[in-house]
Amino acid sequence: MRIGSAVQYDRYGDFDVVELVPQERPTAGAGEIVVEIVAAGLNHIERFLREGKLRDHIELDFPARQGVDFAGIVRARGEGVKDLKVGDEVMGHAPAGGSHATWLVVPRGAVIKKPEHVGWEVAGGLYLAGCTAATVVRDLKLGPDDTVVISAAAGGVGHIECQLAHDAGATVIALGSARNHDYLRQIGTLPVVYGDGEEARIREIADGRPITAFIDNHGESDAEVLSERLGVPSGRFVSSETRRDIEIRFLRAPAEDEVPRELLTLLAKAVQDRRVQVLISGFYPFEYIVEAYEDLAEMKSRGKVVIGMQTVETGARLDWYRSEKARDLRDRYADARGTDTETMAGGSASPAS
Ligand SMILES: NC(=O)c1ccc[n+]([C@@H]2O[C@H](COP(=O)([O-])OP(=O)(O)OC[C@H]3O[C@@H](n4cnc5c(N)ncnc54)[C@H](OP(=O)(O)O)[C@@H]3O)[C@@H](O)[C@H]2O)c1
Repeated sequence: MRIGSAVQYDRYGDFDVVELVPQERPTAGAGEIVVEIVAAGLNHIERFLREGKLRDHIELDFPARQGVDFAGIVRARGEGVKDLKVGDEVMGHAPAGGSHATWLVVPRGAVIKKPEHVGWEVAGGLYLAGCTAATVVRDLKLGPDDTVVISAAAGGVGHIECQLAHDAGATVIALGSARNHDYLRQIGTLPVVYGDGEEARIREIADGRPITAFIDNHGESDAEVLSERLGVPSGRFVSSETRRDIEIRFLRAPAEDEVPRELLTLLAKAVQDRRVQVLISGFYPFEYIVEAYEDLAEMKSRGKVVIGMQTVETGARLDWYRSEKARDLRDRYADARGTDTETMAGGSASPAS
């Protein structure tokens, strides 16, 4: 396939500025490779970028391309690229954006080889959430003496942080809606419903253990106050702004920067070894990129939202992507029964039946 398509927008704005434009297969310059994208992750921060909310940090040149995470197949290599060959499976990041496309040209340094046993959709969605989560957890130097509270724990970044913190030996108190508690237990955390009364619920589940760190993914204004009230030492509260700055750092990391490559290599190995399991909350055909972003913007993801460039046409696709998610089904049943899933304490959510 030589003709494909790419997401493009020519001004800052909402979903309505997003276009799918035809894309010819590019050529690779010296030190570059051409990748045929198989899967690519979606991230809130790219939505903020398109909306113009990050102009103080990143000024876009228009027309702008979208997408940083990807996994795909090397289709061409430029002069000087010796350690990858056509047909190799790779994963990585697009330093200048543009992974929401059929084709991507990147410097060789922007990719690692995709381990055989890491699935395409996981490989395609791992970069930004994974590097952000790994940086936050690594900077806190979490270990067996730690008890850490993580907000938005079931989300794209949070569910990786939870598993890395657990893998480091820390006790993890995971803030999330009751519908996510079974999942949060499965990844080794102690789940707690956020909102009114959360401080008491956190103390109860901590059972006398001192809370030594707090990672606020969501960005509630009172999270830092809560962290202080819980006795978290100063310097061990990671604000949503800090996390955003880490994301921005990785969003446009140059290919020569070795940190993203090292982190992605460690993360891919953790996934291959099943120490980290990346959940895919929604997997959408590329043509449904706007629907995929709308799904992400609902802020109800358990894991990552990813697009697939080579999804198979089954004839049932429209119904397939619109099929109801278990989370929505559960909420609907809970509503019908008058159960408030958002305030249910301690994680003893009754299953929808
Ligand atoms: N500060 C920034 O600039 C910045 C940058 C990127 C992301 N963020 C925010 O960070 C959060 C997580 O990011 P992500 O990339 O992991 O996104 P994500 O995958 O969309 O996160 C979804 C999770 O957010 C949780 N959530 C939704 N509303 C919440 C609320 N009112 N209080 C606490 N948690 C809530 C949900 O938890 P339940 O389903 O369990 O309710 C869901 O599991 C998002 O809220 C995102 O908007 C902020």
